[in-house]
Amino acid sequence: MQALVLEGVNQPIRLKEVPDPQPGTGEVLVQLKAAALNHRDVWIQKGQYAGLKFPVIPGSDGAGIVTKAGMGADTTLIGKEVIINPGLFWGDNPRTHDRKTFRILGLPDDGTFAGYVKVPAAYVHPKPAHLSFEQAAALPLGGLTGYRALFTRAGLQPGEKVLITGAGGGVAQLVMQFAVARGAQVFVTSGSDEKIAKAMQMGASGSANYRQPDWTEGLKAQAGSFDVIIDSAAGEGFIKLIDLAAPGGRIVFYGGTTGLINGIVPGKVFWKQLSILSTTMGSEADFEAMLQFVAEKRIVPVVDKVFPLADGEAALRYMDNAAQFGKIVLAVEN
Ligand SMILES: NC(=O)c1ccc[n+]([C@@H]2O[C@H](COP(=O)([O-])OP(=O)(O)OC[C@H]3O[C@@H](n4cnc5c(N)ncnc54)[C@H](OP(=O)(O)O)[C@@H]3O)[C@@H](O)[C@H]2O)c1
Repeated sequence: MQALVLEGVNQPIRLKEVPDPQPGTGEVLVQLKAAALNHRDVWIQKGQYAGLKFPVIPGSDGAGIVTKAGMGADTTLIGKEVIINPGLFWGDNPRTHDRKTFRILGLPDDGTFAGYVKVPAAYVHPKPAHLSFEQAAALPLGGLTGYRALFTRAGLQPGEKVLITGAGGGVAQLVMQFAVARGAQVFVTSGSDEKIAKAMQMGASGSANYRQPDWTEGLKAQAGSFDVIIDSAAGEGFIKLIDLAAPGGRIVFYGGTTGLINGIVPGKVFWKQLSILSTTMGSEADFEAMLQFVAEKRIVPVVDKVFPLADGEAALRYMDNAAQFGKIVLAVEN
């Protein structure tokens, strides 16, 4: 099969001919129709990710058709259109993953930037009927992370005011769609006025450009304060989120794109009784709940751009430049 292979830190990802994977016991083989990028793939390429291993076929998100079942795997899955839950072996504790068993498809295991991928059969789910393969491939990792952040962790309720930072991001974009669908009042930040305009068209009620020095003042004037804030940037902007949170508010972060969080004033946090929560991916139950919500609300992930698999390196650079609004997808020709 053809696959995008990463052979070392800061190496361009290259299309190569490699042997087809063979499904082991309890596994199925999925012929991919589409895969999608996550920022994780860029971090791995730059060597800024734990547990690096080379060569590796990256890619956590994918949708396709089951073509083979290994020993003990459900053979009725063969021929089914599926999407893959990339959060493997979460474990029994709904509050956190088991660090001994949990792993994410696309490192250490070979991932979805390929003609075929093998996965444990329990991690393939019917492709939502209202989505194309490309739209479905855009959903799993971002949808799972966003769903858990917004609902399992923050417990967002209809009518609450929620702020989503960096709304152009793949996960943030889905968080925004989920929050709008839940009936929350949604506000966004972005570093791009163009992306803000798109977010407003998708149901946001207000916004700020985080590149403006007075961006928090603008948000305060529009919304007062926020019951829920979902962030993946961390860094120096994070303390401003503490100021923007309403008393009793919940701030959930799942990334640290802009680095360390410094200078938190403890009194500002405890006097408002804020809950500062973190999250990573989600459990199998979170994934199923996310799929049900997406089907019920007929949510369609925003696909910014589709690259052919062969142009994987260009797709990674496009993500690295934060040029996207929504997900970047790779179309896989078999
Ligand atoms: N813990 C987990 O399970 C998990 C899961 C998924 C992702 N993540 C992490 O979450 C982050 C986002 O992932 P992704 O795949 O959604 O990446 P992505 O699609 O590349 O999005 C990143 C976004 O970050 C925003 N951003 C950059 N600088 C910012 C700033 N100073 N303030 C606010 N937003 C800023 C940009 O938004 P604008 O373009 O709108 O400016 C950009 O589009 C990454 O760090 C990733 O590693 C963690």
